[in-house]
Amino acid sequence: ETELYRVYKGVYMPANVYTPQSLKYYEEFSFRPDDIIIATYPKSGTTWMQEIVPLIMSGGDPASVETLPNWRRVPWLEVDNTCKLHLEQRPSPRMLSTHFQYTMMPPSFSEVKPKVIYVMRNPKDVFTSSFHYYGMTSFLVNPGPQSEFLHKFLDGKVTFGSWFDHVKSWLNAEDKDRIMYISYEEMIMDLKDSVARIAQFLEKPLDPEVMEKIADRCLFKNMKQNKMSNYSTVSREFMDQTKSEFLRKGIAGDWKNQLTVAEAAYFDAVYKDKMKDVKFKFVWD
Ligand code: PPS
Repeated sequence: ETELYRVYKGVYMPANVYTPQSLKYYEEFSFRPDDIIIATYPKSGTTWMQEIVPLIMSGGDPASVETLPNWRRVPWLEVDNTCKLHLEQRPSPRMLSTHFQYTMMPPSFSEVKPKVIYVMRNPKDVFTSSFHYYGMTSFLVNPGPQSEFLHKFLDGKVTFGSWFDHVKSWLNAEDKDRIMYISYEEMIMDLKDSVARIAQFLEKPLDPEVMEKIADRCLFKNMKQNKMSNYSTVSREFMDQTKSEFLRKGIAGDWKNQLTVAEAAYFDAVYKDKMKDVKFKFVWD
């Protein structure tokens, strides 16, 4: 099973996407104070934010979201080939992504303190989205039966480790004033307001009409049509979107269609225990 994965700082990652070279690059990466980092546990709204942030930073100009795939527009620092993007030559402010836990961030990150947008999502929906995603990608271990995958997910025996550890690590981060915490659910409930809050955090004043246009472009149904964001340019051997689309449903609460009553109750019990010391008020609680 772990043939597909490598263990890095105690957590699984897909071995052919996260290589020793790419992880070394990540460890030695030099941040700039005006870098903007999108940090997420997988399936929490990364791609969505990789659309919103560039549109905000360009003042609504869609050129980059129409011409650059999301992984080049807002590259993950830790993945293979990112070193070939010559990020040190990109003009500021650079936009970068990471799936790593706070405790895995490299030394320069704590020294330089760039801005971070941490996107969180109801873990039952993260589970649901992951279950479908693990079933359609060749670089992730097949999820197997749902009940088995549920245990793996709750035990953190999945890529990037435990959702609980991830969220807690970022909530417990130092220098929280440079981190914006936002949830997938808030973005579903009011995307325009979310865009406005993100723009404010990024100190990028925008006209209300521009924010409205950005929010409209980033609606699920519109983003799904964007070839530069819907992973349609990725080969079928890597991601088989005939099995499940990358932009699959784009809703909050799909876990209700996925988990049995008993599974949901078990999930809630584990959640309650693991999150008992967390003060943060989540929208899904
Ligand atoms: S990844 O692999 O970590 O980069 O995945 P990530 O982008 O974090 O998460 C994928 C889920 O986000 C949904 N998504 C959206 N929902 C609503 N609106 C928009 N615009 C949007 N863009 C992406 C995507 O559909 C995945 O969720 P599910 O529940 O599977 O549909």
